[in-house]
Formats: sequence, C-alpha cells, structure tokens
Amino acid sequence: MKLPRRVTICEVGTRDGFQIEPDFIPTERKIEVVNRLAAAGMPRIEVTSFVSPKAIPQLRDAAEVMAAIARRPGTVYSALVPNDKGAVRAVDAGVDEIHTVLSASESHNLANVNMTIGESLTRLAAVAEVARRAEVPVVSGISCSFGCPFEGDVPTDHLESVVARLVDMGARGVGLADTTGMANPAQVARVLERLVPRFPGVEWTLHTHDTRAMAIPNILAAMEHGVTHFDASIGGLGGCPFAPGASGNVCTEDLIHCLHAMGVETGVDLDAMIEISKRVQEIVGRVLPGQLAKAGKWNRRYPLPGGVRERIPARP
Ligand code: COA
Ligand code: ZN
Repeated sequence: MKLPRRVTICEVGTRDGFQIEPDFIPTERKIEVVNRLAAAGMPRIEVTSFVSPKAIPQLRDAAEVMAAIARRPGTVYSALVPNDKGAVRAVDAGVDEIHTVLSASESHNLANVNMTIGESLTRLAAVAEVARRAEVPVVSGISCSFGCPFEGDVPTDHLESVVARLVDMGARGVGLADTTGMANPAQVARVLERLVPRFPGVEWTLHTHDTRAMAIPNILAAMEHGVTHFDASIGGLGGCPFAPGASGNVCTEDLIHCLHAMGVETGVDLDAMIEISKRVQEIVGRVLPGQLAKAGKWNRRYPLPGGVRERIPARP
C-alpha cells in the first residue's frame, strides 16, 4: 500500500458529536474534554460551532467554551461557522482557524442552513472577508460531497464547481464530508483523482461518518491518493441533526490504532485517547460505537485456558 509517513487528525467530537446529543453537555464537561484531547497530543480540535442557538441549542455556549479552554501551544483550535455572523463571533472568541459549512446538495443545504447553495456562497464570501481581515485561515467543508440522503447522487462536476468557488474565495483547505456514510472507497478514489490535480496547493481533508462501516476503508483509499488530513470523533460520537440517517464519525481512537498498527504516525497518545473515550461515555451516559475501548489494542493478550500450555508442541 502507498501510505504516508504521518497524518494529521482533527478531533471533531466536541462539535459534530456534542451538537447531536439529546441532553445539553455542561460547559465544564466540554472544556474538560477539549483540554484532555489537547494534552493527548491532538494537533487540531474543532471545538464547537458558532451557529444559531435556535438551530443547535447544544452548542449555545460556544464563546464560553472557547474562553475557558487551556490553549496548548501548537494545537490548532477551530470552530464551524455557516455565515458572517458566526465568523465574527468565532474571531472574537479567538479561534485559530474557521471551518465553514455548506452542502453540495441543494436539499441538504436548505435543511441544514436554510439557504440555497448560491445564498450560502454569498454568505461564505462575507465569512472569507471577516477571516481575511482577522488573518484567520479558512477551511471550507462541503457536506454531502459523496451523496445526499434526500437527492442521492451528487455529480462530481457539481462538486468540482462548488470547490472552485470556495478556492476562489481563498480557502486554504477543503474538507470533503461524507455526511451520512454514503461514500465507498472506489468512489473516494475517483473523486480525488479528479479534484486533487485540478486544485494544486489545496489542503484536502476527508470527513467521514461510519454509518455504513465504510469510514476506515474510505480513509485508506484517500491516503492512497495523497490525502493526509482526516476528521474523527472520540468514541465515534457525531451526526448531523438535519440529515436523516446520519450517525457517528469515524472513531478517533479506532482510526489512530489502525494508523499506528500500519506504522503511520499521528503524534497522538493512543492510551490517553482510550481513557478520554471512556470518560466521554460517562459524560454522555451511554456506550459509544468505537471498537477499541471495548476490544483493547491489537497487542492485548489473554491468559491461556488451563491445561493448554503443557500441550503446546515445542518448536522444531
Ligand atoms: N450565530 C448566532 N446567531 C445567529 C447566527 C450565528 N452564526 N446566524 C444567525 N443567527 C441568529 C440571527 O441573529 C437571528 O436571531 P434572532 O431571531 O434573535 O433575530 C436568528 O439566528 C435567525 O437568523 P437568520 O439569518 O434568519 O437565519 P436562519 O433562521 O435562516 O438560520 C442559520 C440560518 C445558518 C443561522 C441556521 O440554519 C444555522 O445556524 N444552522 C446551523 C446548522 C448546523 O450547525 N448544522 C450542523 C453542522 S453540519
Ligand atoms: Zn460530520
């Protein structure tokens, strides 16, 4: 396999995950999780979102969370914004990077942000202006890049034209999001073969959801095509409240385990991540989908059943 030496993970659990929890996660718990993720060496954290509190009441404390976290030097703290109002709030809160949201499907964009794609692009141009003045880089996420739960297929021509508009606005990076887990590895490869050479210099991120157990296969396909930035959620939290059938992101500790087992570095302390995942399960009050917190790492060993050791033949 063609694997990179190192990949960069952006933890999105406190945003993509906590936004969909039925109970409001107390502000102190959010701060605790962000601080523990940074201490575990997570290089990028999408802390929260600056969206309408009516749309996402779970993240109405975005400014308080940003103000209270311990800023670890070297960690990039970002937040999601849908419009210029969100960008101004995010810049005031001191984010290092703005992540914008827009969908490649008209239906999902209307359901999610109450705008057509054209209206969103106008708002995102205003976001880019706010970011440019504040000298904050922008990474533009595109929801439903590989399919829409309402419309089905999203033609690659159409995705390409949306990417072109965002790159023209000065996006440093583009995040291709598989919002409801519709992508498959061959499709990811096809889309990247088309887009990556067309937009040189863009930093590509793949944002996966494991709704149909294809998240890690999709990430493997993206790595084969040179992508080295991936979003992931602690414990496999996550989901979009405005996309029916959406479920959790790829689980961060499962992904890190897979990468480390293959010799790909992340700079993140896997043991610490397993402990954080267990803590997040306590906070949300349920077992999360991640496998590693249940199974242990690949090198976990069990005691032999009685009477077996004596019967193992000596190696010749
Ligand atoms: N932050 C805080 N408040 C905001 C805001 C922002 N970024 N953007 C708009 N608002 C407020 C407005 O001030 C207005 O408040 P008021 O009713 O007290 O006057 C209200 O929200 C409605 O504003 P409007 O511009 O008419 O927006 P809308 O109702 O059409 O909603 C969005 C559009 C984009 C603001 C809303 O759909 C949204 O926040 N969506 C986020 C969806 C999301 O995060 N999905 C999951 C991530 S993929
Ligand atoms: Zn998502």
